[in-house]
This record gives sequence, structure tokens and C-alpha cells, in this order.
Amino acid sequence: MAQLFPPNANAFAKWSIIGGLILVVLLVWVMAAYARIANDRVGVPVEQPVAFSHRLHAGELGLSCLYCHTSVDTAAFAGIPSTETCMSCHTQIRVGDPRLAVVQASWDTDTRIAWNRVHDLADHVFFDHSAHINSGIGCSECHGPVHQMDGMWKNEPLTMAWCLDCHRAPELYIRPREEVFNMDWQRPADQLAFGHSLVKAYDINRDLLMQCSTCHQ
Ligand code: HEC
Ligand code: HEC
Ligand code: HEC
Ligand code: HEC
Ligand code: HEC
Repeated sequence: MAQLFPPNANAFAKWSIIGGLILVVLLVWVMAAYARIANDRVGVPVEQPVAFSHRLHAGELGLSCLYCHTSVDTAAFAGIPSTETCMSCHTQIRVGDPRLAVVQASWDTDTRIAWNRVHDLADHVFFDHSAHINSGIGCSECHGPVHQMDGMWKNEPLTMAWCLDCHRAPELYIRPREEVFNMDWQRPADQLAFGHSLVKAYDINRDLLMQCSTCHQ
């Protein structure tokens, strides 16, 4: 019976198992590396079903961020507007414009527009918009000059090191709460002293900012 397989069959089986394992490990590694790159496209506009322009709507027309991102100051999630929000204007403005065809179709069929997410933290990370907005951290600190952007892209890497840069020294970035939506806000020359006074006035808890459990629950 032992002669049914050639003497080197065992070695062959052993090496094909090891080879297979190495291949699987390599594949997982390549996939993880790809996910990292795909998630790291800072500055590259994400393709969307409608060529919506923040430069036009939030810049030229001067609409407040809150007009569309209605829960940004009260909840963790900023919210993406429903088609109804667009149609409050576009039932009258540019009706029949081919650039609005997808919006019109969404309205007619009562289905959401399939916007692609631009920012998407890993599931093991907790983030809350309202905590930042109410502590005087402006949209532009994290999203850049949105009022000048025709497409939408990640303006920052959203890595842990990036989060901690600010959590370690919020006084370098903090501004008066009334200015969080102001895209043109400039840091004053005495930002450090000014920032320290705001950190104190807003009762910002420095210990909390650096604890792992604040962001990983
Ligand atoms: C007229 C409605 C409207 C206004 C006003 C508006 N937005 Fe948006 N915003 C959208 C829509 C629609 C999207 C989804 C499409 C896209 O990503 O371009 C979006 C997407 C975004 C995203 C990316 C979301 C993601 O997928 O990660 C950010 C960040 C953002 N808006 C910030 C702002 C800021 C800051 C302001 C104020 C300066 C603002 N928006 C004003 C409608 C609006
Ligand atoms: C407050 C009114 C208002 C709201 C709300 C609004 N728009 Fe507009 N939109 C305009 C105006 C005004 C224009 C420009 C018309 C012009 O100058 O020809 C425009 C133009 C556009 C265009 C044409 C492309 C361009 O750059 O000129 C698209 C596409 C568009 N809007 C999509 C949207 C979407 C999607 C939403 C909802 C997320 C939305 N709009 C919400 C007023 C609005
Ligand atoms: C401290 C940094 C920071 C500030 C300040 C900030 N954002 Fe964000 N924003 C993020 C991060 C991080 C995400 C991705 C969240 C996720 O994936 O869970 C995000 C996601 C979004 C999204 C996509 C929907 C969502 O909630 O995930 C919108 C829209 C948005 N932000 C709008 C705004 C607006 C408008 C402001 C100002 C009023 C603002 N953001 C201020 C960091 C910030
Ligand atoms: C530009 C400054 C800045 C950046 C960037 C920033 N944060 Fe914060 N973060 C703050 C400040 C200020 C607070 C408020 C602390 C307080 O209220 O005591 C805060 C609070 C928080 C809280 C506590 C919320 C709560 O429930 O009280 C979490 C969670 C958090 N940040 C997560 C993140 C994550 C995740 C990132 C990166 C994706 C990030 N932050 C980037 C400044 C920042
Ligand atoms: C201010 C928020 C914040 C705090 C505080 C924080 N982290 Fe993170 N952490 C993040 C974010 C955001 C990511 C996701 C990074 C990414 O996807 O590139 C992350 C990712 C990680 C990862 C996964 C590694 C990876 O590359 O994805 C580990 C492990 C981790 N954190 C451990 C910790 C430990 C331990 C602490 C306490 C010393 C801590 N974190 C504190 C925001 C935070």
C-alpha cells in the first residue's frame, strides 16, 4: 500500500500546504494594504451621482452648513440632506437641467440619492460632531475650505496621530463658538493665550482628550 504514492508525495503535500498558507497570508496583507491606501486618499475628490458643489451652495449662495447638515451641532452624525432639502429650491431653480436629472429622478421615485461617503472612520473609533462644534472647533479645522470646493474630498488623513495632535493641544486650534461655521475665520496673532482662555472658559477636560476609552469604546 505504501507504494501507491511515490516516496516524495509527503514532502510535496507538506510544501503545497505551506505554499498555500504563504499565499493566503500574502493575499490578506495585500488586501489590508489596499484598504489602507483606498482609505487614505487625502485631497482626491470622491465621485458622486450628482455634481453637487459646496463652492456654489455654501460659498456663492452663502447657505449655512446647518441648512443641509442639520444635526451637526446636536448629534454625533452631521447628516446628509434628503432630496426634499434640494427640492426646496430646485422645484423652481434650473428645472429640467440635465445636471439635476438624478435629483429629479430621486424626487419622482421617492428614493434617496446614493451619495458616496467621503469620510469613514473605522468602526472601532468613536467620533461625535456636537462635542467638537460646541467646544469651539470649526468645520474648517477638519474639513478644510469647504466653501471653495467643487467636489468633496478628505482634507486630513483622519489617522489617530492627527486626532491626537489637536487633543494634546486644543488651544492651538480652538475658536469662539460663534465662529465654528465661519469658513473664513483666521487665528489671531495671540492664538496661544487666546486659546488657553477659551479652553478654560469652555471647561475642556484635558484628561478625557488623551484617554484611549474616549475614542475606543
Ligand atoms: C445645500 C446643501 C448643503 C450645504 C449648504 C452644505 N452641504 Fe455639505 N454636503 C451636502 C451634500 C449633498 C453632500 C454629499 C455629497 C458630497 O459629498 O459632495 C455633502 C457632503 C459634505 C461633506 C462630506 C460628507 C462625507 O461623505 O464624508 C462634508 C465634510 C460637508 N458636506 C461639509 C459641509 C460644510 C462644512 C458646509 C458649510 C460650509 C456644508 N457642507 C454645507 C450638502 C450641503
Ligand atoms: C437655497 C436654494 C438651493 C438649495 C437648497 C439647493 N440648491 Fe442647487 N442650486 C441653487 C442655485 C441658485 C443654483 C445655480 C443656478 C444658476 O446659477 O444657474 C443651483 C445649482 C445647482 C446645480 C447645477 C450645477 C451648478 O454647479 O450650477 C446642481 C447639480 C445643484 N444645484 C444640486 C443641488 C443639490 C443636490 C441640492 C441638495 C443637496 C441643492 N442643489 C440644493 C440653489 C439651491
Ligand atoms: C474635529 C474634526 C471635525 C470637525 C470640527 C467637523 N467634522 Fe465633520 N467629520 C469629521 C470626521 C472624523 C468624520 C467622519 C465620521 C465617521 O466616519 O464616523 C466627519 C464626517 C462628516 C460628514 C459626513 C456625515 C457624518 O456625520 O459622518 C459631514 C456631512 C460633516 N462631517 C460635516 C461637518 C460640518 C458641517 C462641520 C462643522 C459644523 C464639521 N463636519 C466639523 C471630523 C470633523
Ligand atoms: C482641531 C481639534 C480636534 C481634532 C482634530 C479632533 N478633536 Fe476630538 N475633541 C476636541 C475637543 C476640543 C474636544 C472637547 C473636549 C471636551 O468637551 O471636554 C474633543 C472631544 C472629543 C471626544 C469626546 C466627545 C464626548 O463625548 O465628550 C471624542 C470621542 C473625540 N473628540 C474624538 C475625536 C476623533 C476620533 C478625532 C479624529 C478623527 C478627533 N476627535 C479630532 C478637539 C479635536
Ligand atoms: C482622539 C481619539 C483617539 C484616542 C484618544 C486614541 N485613539 Fe486609537 N485610533 C484613533 C483613530 C481615529 C484610529 C483609526 C486610525 C486609522 O484608521 O488610520 C485609531 C486606531 C487605533 C488602533 C488600530 C491601529 C490601526 O492602525 O488601525 C489601535 C490599536 C489604537 N487606536 C489604540 C489606541 C490606544 C491604546 C489609545 C490610548 C493610548 C488610543 N488608541 C487613543 C483615535 C484615537
